[in-house]
Amino acid sequence: LSGTDPELNAGIKQMSFLTTEILRKKRDGKELSDDELKFLVEGFASGQIPDYQATAWLMASTIKGLSANETLVLTRAMKESGQSLDWRGLSANFKNARFADKHSTGGVGDKVSLILAPVAAALGVKVPMMSGRGLGHTGGTVDKLQSIPGFNMFPSINEMIRGLDEVGVCMMCQSAELCPADRKLYSLRDVTATIESVPLITASIVSKKWAEGVDAIVYDVKCGTGAFMETRDEAVRLAHSLVETSKRAGMAAAAWVTRMEEPLGAFVGNALEVLESVYILRNEFPSPLHKRLAQALGELSLTLAAEMAALAGVQPSFEIAQKKAREALESGAAWKIFEHMCKAQGAPTDWETRLAKAPVVKDYLAPRAGSVGEIHSRELGLAGLRIGVGRQRAEDKVDPATGFELLVARGDKVEEGQPLLRAHLRSGSQFEEIQPELSRSFVIRNVMRDEATHPTKLAVERIS
Ligand code: URA
Repeated sequence: LSGTDPELNAGIKQMSFLTTEILRKKRDGKELSDDELKFLVEGFASGQIPDYQATAWLMASTIKGLSANETLVLTRAMKESGQSLDWRGLSANFKNARFADKHSTGGVGDKVSLILAPVAAALGVKVPMMSGRGLGHTGGTVDKLQSIPGFNMFPSINEMIRGLDEVGVCMMCQSAELCPADRKLYSLRDVTATIESVPLITASIVSKKWAEGVDAIVYDVKCGTGAFMETRDEAVRLAHSLVETSKRAGMAAAAWVTRMEEPLGAFVGNALEVLESVYILRNEFPSPLHKRLAQALGELSLTLAAEMAALAGVQPSFEIAQKKAREALESGAAWKIFEHMCKAQGAPTDWETRLAKAPVVKDYLAPRAGSVGEIHSRELGLAGLRIGVGRQRAEDKVDPATGFELLVARGDKVEEGQPLLRAHLRSGSQFEEIQPELSRSFVIRNVMRDEATHPTKLAVERIS
């Protein structure tokens, strides 16, 4: 672990700028110098620059933009506001190891990390995966893994080293010691309409991956109605910015722009998503429909795992890595790694049978005959917030057991009264509460006009 560089700090303390002059410069669309930006970030992180001045800078930056160099300097300053990890320096066993991670901009039913991490480890990458909690209507890997009884998302440094050495993967909650300036700035952005800025999002995401000490990073930039970036153009712009800034920071990087309209797979909900990941890792599904709904999700997980291995340099090419990723899944090697990881991180051997189950199950029925034209993941995500899949307020606790199970796919023909979705609930009254969101989630079209089909491929574009 390395903390903030004391010499750098001393340098910054000696820097003397008038904050108002820096704000004026950004307001007028001019590029800030490296020192001016470092002065702002350090000053804000240490409390010397008040929220109102930081907000003025955030708003000016959102409107006028940041150059590629400003984005990199901001990223570095946020990384240097806290500790950074240096895995190879932590254990002699890691001398020749390569470390990689994946970051997703967030989706509904997005359990890719749970499938991809053990597959990537099977390909020879060390995966110190640091994840977050759910944000808005999208789920978080931390909440999903915490539905596994006993699973410790806060391993000590020694436990992380042991996990990476013996299992090849350690999944954990983002440490509060990494990038404290980002956390403080993000809270301000959240309440000042300055979240939607590509350079600010870039600096926020890349600083955390840089501090995590990985050699390679793969971004899954979701686009579509259920995503943070709704249009393909916006997603591509963010993907380019993430890749460029990561490379300038010395990491190997690539991004995949992927579709996020309907939920990924058949399940949305914390324990339910763990269960679906187990089905995929074991290649055993409770029904052909479950298998069909999980197919595109499984493919995306293999693609991103192969990308991690190829970028990290532990596989000679992406194509070879992709073939090996499929073998790791089909041979059961990835499932063994997942089981081993659960054990290493504190889960009992029978954790699967002890996953939380919701006491009430109710089916949502098709209001009329036709074909399933759309399944809006955003609406389902919002329904999930109401039943505890995610949080409505930061201090809320998630419910591990609640969630949804799709009983149809896009393009399927349905009869009036046929079950479209099974809701797993804490109480019967929750079913009434989510009726508006459920009715907006499903678009039933006239069969004659229907051209929609369930997608078999989610990846739209690769940016390297
Ligand atoms: N996720 C982050 O970590 N930061 C952002 O700014 C947006 C999404």
